[in-house]
Amino acid sequence: MDRIAITGGAQLNGTIPVSGAKNSAIKLMAASLLTDQPLRLTNMPRLADTRFLGKLLTRLGVSVTESDGPDGQETVLHAPEITSGFAPYDLVRQMRASFNVLGPLVARSGQAKVSLPGGCTIGARPVDLHLQAIEALGAKIDLHEGYVYAQAPRGLKGAEIVFPIVSVGATEHAMLAAVLADGVTVIKNAACEPELVDLQECLNAMGAKVEGAGTPTVTITGVARLNGASHSVIPDRIEMGTYAVAAAMAGGEVRLTKARPELIESLSVKLEEAGATVVRTEDGVIVKRNGSRLNAVDLETAPFPGFATDLQAQFMALMTTANGESRIRETIFENRFMHAPELMRLGADISVHGGEARVRGVAQLEGAEVMATDLRASVSLVIAGLVARGETVVSRIYHLDRGFERLEEKLGACGAQVRRIKGDGEPEL
Ligand code: EPU
Repeated sequence: MDRIAITGGAQLNGTIPVSGAKNSAIKLMAASLLTDQPLRLTNMPRLADTRFLGKLLTRLGVSVTESDGPDGQETVLHAPEITSGFAPYDLVRQMRASFNVLGPLVARSGQAKVSLPGGCTIGARPVDLHLQAIEALGAKIDLHEGYVYAQAPRGLKGAEIVFPIVSVGATEHAMLAAVLADGVTVIKNAACEPELVDLQECLNAMGAKVEGAGTPTVTITGVARLNGASHSVIPDRIEMGTYAVAAAMAGGEVRLTKARPELIESLSVKLEEAGATVVRTEDGVIVKRNGSRLNAVDLETAPFPGFATDLQAQFMALMTTANGESRIRETIFENRFMHAPELMRLGADISVHGGEARVRGVAQLEGAEVMATDLRASVSLVIAGLVARGETVVSRIYHLDRGFERLEEKLGACGAQVRRIKGDGEPEL
């Protein structure tokens, strides 16, 4: 399998264009199941996760066509009819968000059999709230042998859905199902992440009637059918935040473009508190740090607009060489510190107590071989490698390929010494 080698010490100077958001693109792709007309998505990232979902959608009857159009990378998804309502384990386990095909399948064709996604390294990540929502909309749900069987032969019915905790995936799933339900659905305690606003805009372009996404109450008035549409995927705030942290770590000056500064405001505030300079521009941010060491700052992850859990590992990497002790509390997932022991292999001084990590900054990290267990953890090791003395080699980078488009190219264009070492095809232990 491929690995990534980083030789530390180079500053980053240059421009990085931000790609379309993975976590939005994969929900928008699922929306193609709701109509017999083509859905054209532009600003599409080309990632392992979009490929996984494309494979599953193809099995369900969607033609998936990727091209480079006048608006950049685009994907056209077209499901004249649903040829199968079966999403097998071998495809769903590769990418958990594939589970979100359940709602659109039941909404459009009255039935579905979708594998439960199973566990995940960052936490148990159950799907009980997803099932609660689809059931509230009138589907009969049975669980057998690892599969969800859902049936609504006479269609879904609008309902009030009150989530006991905030869930991005369950809110999106409820929206994806309710757009074709008969009557009005009100989702309370909805997640407010920008990707939900993106989903609302796409669904409304398809003829749906969704209001309130981005607030805790989303109201959906069901329609009998949806049309095709063309929609541009929102910029990836996590990719933008990751490169902002990389610039603060390595020093230099990096301009992030094709993005929206307000999507990473909670990170920008922390970067400034630590001593980096963040200049908001019309289409992104410029992040600078010249010479002096950063200060340790504390943080706690929270739902949007709070500090994103998907940027916690990267910020922890940044804090490994800051001046002082930083306390980092993870509140969204129960096991999202798997990067800490790997950062310690690079010389970081970190102790983890339950949901809190204490990072005592060291003067210098040293390159080593490391591996990661999830996407954001992997990129935190790359960020640490940017300043570690000598060479850092990150293995299991299939995690990185799930969510970062052309990472070596983007960092390399700013002067980072990053290269991919092609694997011999042997699986890693
Ligand atoms: N939860 C439940 N039951 C459910 C659903 C969620 O208990 O039915 C719990 C989860 O276990 C977690 C909390 O609720 O403790 C919040 O999870 P949420 O549902 O909001 O997360 P998600 O939809 O599974 C998405 C992103 C994650 C991101 C989180 C939080 C996608 C594909 N994934 O996950 O992104 O961390 O929201 O913002 O959109 C990543 O990209 O690396 C990633 C993990």
